[in-house]
Amino acid sequence: MTIKNKVIVIMGASSGIGEATSRLLAEKGAKLIIAARRLDRLEAIKAANPKADIHIQQADVTNYEEVKKVINLAMDTYGRVDVLYNNAGIMPTAPIVEGRRDEWQQMIDINIMGVLNGIAAVLPIMVEQKTGHIIATDSVAGHVVYPDSAVYCGTKFAVRAIMEGLRQEQGKNNIKSTIISPGAVATELYKTINDKQVSEDLHKAQKEWGLISEDIASAVAFAIDTPDRMAISDMIVRPTRQLV
Ligand SMILES: NC(=O)c1ccc[n+]([C@@H]2O[C@H](COP(=O)([O-])OP(=O)(O)OC[C@H]3O[C@@H](n4cnc5c(N)ncnc54)[C@H](OP(=O)(O)O)[C@@H]3O)[C@@H](O)[C@H]2O)c1
Repeated sequence: MTIKNKVIVIMGASSGIGEATSRLLAEKGAKLIIAARRLDRLEAIKAANPKADIHIQQADVTNYEEVKKVINLAMDTYGRVDVLYNNAGIMPTAPIVEGRRDEWQQMIDINIMGVLNGIAAVLPIMVEQKTGHIIATDSVAGHVVYPDSAVYCGTKFAVRAIMEGLRQEQGKNNIKSTIISPGAVATELYKTINDKQVSEDLHKAQKEWGLISEDIASAVAFAIDTPDRMAISDMIVRPTRQLV
């Protein structure tokens, strides 16, 4: 099966990479369940694509019951889940010495537990189906560490490890595990940085030489549109000018 008619669940679909991926996969004829906390943004995506097969569900990825509701909506509507795209994430970067424990906890809860909640909710279904594909948005920060981003990098290293373990465990059930690892992409992610100067600097860099969300959406679509025998494990997608 190509992308057309695949049942695809996207967590963190309300802006940036998740929104662009929702639009692209809708154009390609996927059956979409899109989720995030901002319901108005999900409704706007659905309204902008009136002919597309899109269902929306409000969900916070840190809440397992809400994640389960999203997967249940896919099962009740279509009876299967072909792809789960765990894309939700935040990046409130700051030097470790500032001791922003609340932000560390939020990053761990959303970037790591959010991914694990999605996996926990969908994996038994995919095992039963004997087919499935779980994708996570990782990052270049899941491959290298740089100053002021240690905790964010830690969450993305963790996602890379979890997704590699999933790949090794579930290949036998015809379940693919993919991480897409972007460099800088011009999205709303800078708004999750509470240090005003750092946030503005990142936003400026993203606008000047960053990728656009559609670039990453096309990478996700490529990973989905592969034959059963072929699995993309990790795709690093950097802006041409990015050094790290
Ligand atoms: N932009 C970059 O340069 C870049 C580079 C590498 C990796 N990434 C990764 O790409 C992913 C998408 O980020 P983006 O750049 O597209 O930024 P974005 O525009 O801020 O999108 C983040 C998405 O995550 C959702 N989200 C955040 N917390 C959530 C929660 N608790 N529950 C449910 N959804 C939640 C947001 O939806 P709501 O707020 O509506 O819930 C939104 O849809 C993230 O995992 C990020 O780490 C981004």
